[in-house]
Amino acid sequence: MFVSAFLLLVTLCAQGGYGEERDEAQRPGHVSVVIVGGTGDLAKKYLWQGFFELYVNQVKNGYTFSFYGGGLSPADKATPVLFEILKALSCPKDVSQERCALLKEQFLRLSQYRQLQSVEDYQDLAKQIEKELQQEGMTEAGRLFYLSVPAFAYADIADKINSSCRPTSGAWLRVVLEKPFGHDFRSAQVLASQLGNSLKDEEMYRIDHYLGKQVVSRILPFREENKKFLDPIWNRHHIERVEIVLKETLDVKGRIPFYDQYGVVRDVLQNHLTEVMTLLTMSLPMNLSSNEEVLRNKLQVFRSLLPVGKNQAVVGQYQAYKTEVQQELNKTKDHISITPTFAAVLMYIDDAQYEDVPILLISGKMLDERMGYARILFKNDIFCLQNHNSVHCKPKQIVFHFGHGSLKYPAILVSKNLFKPILMDSEWKEVTEHKDVDVLGLPLSDYFVQMPIVQREAYYELISHIFAGRKNSFISTENLLASWGLWTPLLSSLASTFPRIYPGGAENGDLLDVRIKGKDISYHNEVVIIGNDQVGGFQVMQGKFRSSDMVSAWTEELVVRLAADIQEAAEAAVREAGVFHLALSGGSSPLALFQRLALHHFSFPWRDTHVWMVDERCVPLTDSESNFRNLHDHLLHHVRIPYYNIHPMPVQINQRLCVEEDGGALLYEKEVSKWVNGSSFHFVLLGVGYDSHTASLFPGSKVDGHGESLVALTESPVKPHQRMTLTFSAINRAHRVALLVMGKGKHELITQLSRVKDNPDKWPVTGVKPANGRLVWYIDYDALLG
Ligand code: BG6
Repeated sequence: MFVSAFLLLVTLCAQGGYGEERDEAQRPGHVSVVIVGGTGDLAKKYLWQGFFELYVNQVKNGYTFSFYGGGLSPADKATPVLFEILKALSCPKDVSQERCALLKEQFLRLSQYRQLQSVEDYQDLAKQIEKELQQEGMTEAGRLFYLSVPAFAYADIADKINSSCRPTSGAWLRVVLEKPFGHDFRSAQVLASQLGNSLKDEEMYRIDHYLGKQVVSRILPFREENKKFLDPIWNRHHIERVEIVLKETLDVKGRIPFYDQYGVVRDVLQNHLTEVMTLLTMSLPMNLSSNEEVLRNKLQVFRSLLPVGKNQAVVGQYQAYKTEVQQELNKTKDHISITPTFAAVLMYIDDAQYEDVPILLISGKMLDERMGYARILFKNDIFCLQNHNSVHCKPKQIVFHFGHGSLKYPAILVSKNLFKPILMDSEWKEVTEHKDVDVLGLPLSDYFVQMPIVQREAYYELISHIFAGRKNSFISTENLLASWGLWTPLLSSLASTFPRIYPGGAENGDLLDVRIKGKDISYHNEVVIIGNDQVGGFQVMQGKFRSSDMVSAWTEELVVRLAADIQEAAEAAVREAGVFHLALSGGSSPLALFQRLALHHFSFPWRDTHVWMVDERCVPLTDSESNFRNLHDHLLHHVRIPYYNIHPMPVQINQRLCVEEDGGALLYEKEVSKWVNGSSFHFVLLGVGYDSHTASLFPGSKVDGHGESLVALTESPVKPHQRMTLTFSAINRAHRVALLVMGKGKHELITQLSRVKDNPDKWPVTGVKPANGRLVWYIDYDALLG
């Protein structure tokens, strides 16, 4: 029978029990587990089973427990539901039937449902926990709250836990959260700071259940144990490419209200596949169990990843999705959603080890099979003239097989022409009996195969880590924000991309095959399935703005066009003068341009190009606010430009920033005069701020008052206040000036600028008037049309 609110001090000794816990030192005592959302889907499928297994394994270590399933429903309604869930729990295989019955009965007695809605409910829960501790005279070890509820409820629940349910007397508090942790960088940041008001970072356990998968959690140990084989080949000279793939057969019927707002990139690529990617590519920590070191090395991967452009992703949507959306969201027949259910994304890490190695992340719903894996495919430099089946002619690969597929079990496979991996973990075994299946193009017998002796559910693994206070397999705030930082720009640039429609299942055929070309990815088959009015209209428009030439287009096309124009100007200058002098502005608008130049303009004459700064903030060049730092990170770092062609502004002299008597402005002016013929740059790229400032020439600051000087120190109304800038004398000598204006936020300004007369003191940008050169405005449709 289900007995609620009755606590037993259980000292059962679970004989055998599988899997020893490698607990961090923590004192045994009483642990209260609260699953908020305790009768929901996840709790029913995995959580209760996970906690039951934890219980079975931990009672023998002197711990006692009470379990609470919390929810919004009143107890009389939800208690029977919880009872049904608990009745269905199963014991680990090595527990005898009688013992299992006993353990289940004990577990049922220790578990109860509680309504958890108001602050008072949480206060009552705390009282109940304390009462039990007192009555039984127990020491408290800790409280574990598992929030299996929608993310919008997190901040509120965390607040209630903080105000009412914190343990006293040195016991721990651990609060477990399930994704989604935001839907982009900004929202993740907001959520993190809200949670940060109630919980300390070390109290939060953000789950990515992929980190609990047995094969995934073995990636680092495998790399470590097989270091001597892997060290020579785990680099760009030997790796052909890396693939991280999650194929699913299911659709998302029933989950559309959630899924349609997220799509496959947010649902699995941003988290599960990205985590696997970092484990494969991060530097091996000296100490695998050092949480700080693992995190530090992971963050380093994010720092070295090149930005992912729109051409490095393709998206798809299964055909029936449209109708499912119409039904589940109550939409009419003409409603279309462009949320992708399939995506393939190509990434590159910009460091000496992995430079130019394609890293593919792919996932989709309604595909032909259910299978997850990461494959490291190595280059094969052996040419076989005759016997193509001999082992050295075959693909060389390491496959981390997470599960399913024709193999059906999780395993790590190393093709026999690579090396025989070391098997050190006693929980893994080598597979020598090979069934007749192929794994990624090779028969099983062509691999060395190792698999876990006992297969365990990811959630159980993670629950045992939470219990042991091991944070390695959880997502820290920094890690989370770094991942969103990587994915958010791509998500924005895909926001209006129409997905390729695929029928689903085996019928997909080769429709979703992709090809890597240069640094881009595209569908291999150029069939355009859907004609839609929403696409199209992407042409570039030419016109006039403030009596100068204007080019206008959607952002992406505008950037493509501007990059092409700069390259054309560069080639012409190099032809005529043997050198191209380019002056670039800071701010966020040019970043997409820099990326475009870095990733697509391989024939740009960088060797003969000198790069100058239009303006600079008075901060050290390594500061994230520095224009040069941004230019460096997004462009210079990725192209082959000689160091002596790069001319940052000397804002830091004598260990101080922009002090007039240090003469930095004059120094830069001299450098310009020395290198640039007639001090006339071939191309100057400018932006315009909301207050119409351009370069660092701000309204109301006598922008015309610099006389003949080419470089000046100025004051900005916003931080950092001090700036160094080219003056109008310098700008207006240029052969060509481009004024780049993008984003809806600039629409108002563009409207005003189209009406006002030249008045550089009030509207500095109106002072841009190249004397003998050409000014072209590049304005995207958002800024032009609003
Ligand atoms: C979840 C996603 O996080 O992972 C699901 O929300 C996806 O859409 C699932 O199906 C995949 O997990 P697994 O363990 O079945 O590969």
